[in-house]
Amino acid sequence: MNSDLKVWLNGKLIPWREATVPLLSHGFSRSSAIFEVFGVHVGPKGPMAFRMDEHIKRLMQGAELLGMELAYSAEEIMEAAKATVHATSLGRGLIKILAYWSEEAIIKLVLESKLDLAVFAIPESEGLGLDDAKPISACLSKWRKIHPETVPAGAKACANYLNGYLARKNANSRGFDIGIMLSTDGFLAEGSIESVFIIKDGVLKTPPLGRILSSITRMSILQAAPKIGIPVVEYPITVDEIYAADEIFTAHTGIKVSPVTLFENRDLQAPGPVTKQVMRLMENIIHFNDDRFMDWFQPLT
Ligand SMILES: Cc1ncc(COP(=O)(O)O)c(C=O)c1O
Repeated sequence: MNSDLKVWLNGKLIPWREATVPLLSHGFSRSSAIFEVFGVHVGPKGPMAFRMDEHIKRLMQGAELLGMELAYSAEEIMEAAKATVHATSLGRGLIKILAYWSEEAIIKLVLESKLDLAVFAIPESEGLGLDDAKPISACLSKWRKIHPETVPAGAKACANYLNGYLARKNANSRGFDIGIMLSTDGFLAEGSIESVFIIKDGVLKTPPLGRILSSITRMSILQAAPKIGIPVVEYPITVDEIYAADEIFTAHTGIKVSPVTLFENRDLQAPGPVTKQVMRLMENIIHFNDDRFMDWFQPLT
């Protein structure tokens, strides 16, 4: 990564390459870490964070679900994000926040220390693929979404991403862009790093929270779509319903809406008419062209 970039680490802005942890740290060797990623968009008055308040709330909830304690308050984390954006002169890009145990732990599993905190401001680049809403292909993953009684699926915990990694790897090896996972009870869950929506007869449908990540993009789409007359429902969606969907799209922070053009052996219109409306809605929101959603942004200046 660009060595000119600065990382906010436990209260200090330091060079990117110096932001490291010991190999035997609990965070690295046992994956005890949680994180957040949210978008930075350039508004008329400078860089603005998309729903930073909600992302930081989810980070705090994640720590609580895992019985871990953050060393900083929500306000302090927001100030850290601002300082990092300022030090990086960030325009369009992402903020990534990582909370982890840097303490070495060879045998000990439960630590008493508070989590370290690192904040990264990452400029837009081709590799990040931000706003790249090109149609994607999706298959049904052979891997199921981790059951919430094994680890909290609602926490954005680094360890949970082995599950997502396997689903993506399996999909790629079959020639698909992404894998859609079912929950262990056989209903639609989500992709590796994306929420999944289906459309049938004009209704936007997505699984309820409980067995999936409480995605901020998902929440935003569910709140905004009814405002343009698209009905939304959250309920356990069967595999048959995925196959019979008129349209499918996925959503996450980096790319608000990605239309699915192929699901297993089924071609789909991508984007279909409803997906197109949702894409336009979200695009208008992130380009500050929809006054109804201005309070979804927080200034980073
Ligand atoms: C498993 C999973 N589902 C959904 C999402 C989308 O969440 P958000 O809208 O907060 O980016 C992500 C994002 O990384 C994810 O990892």
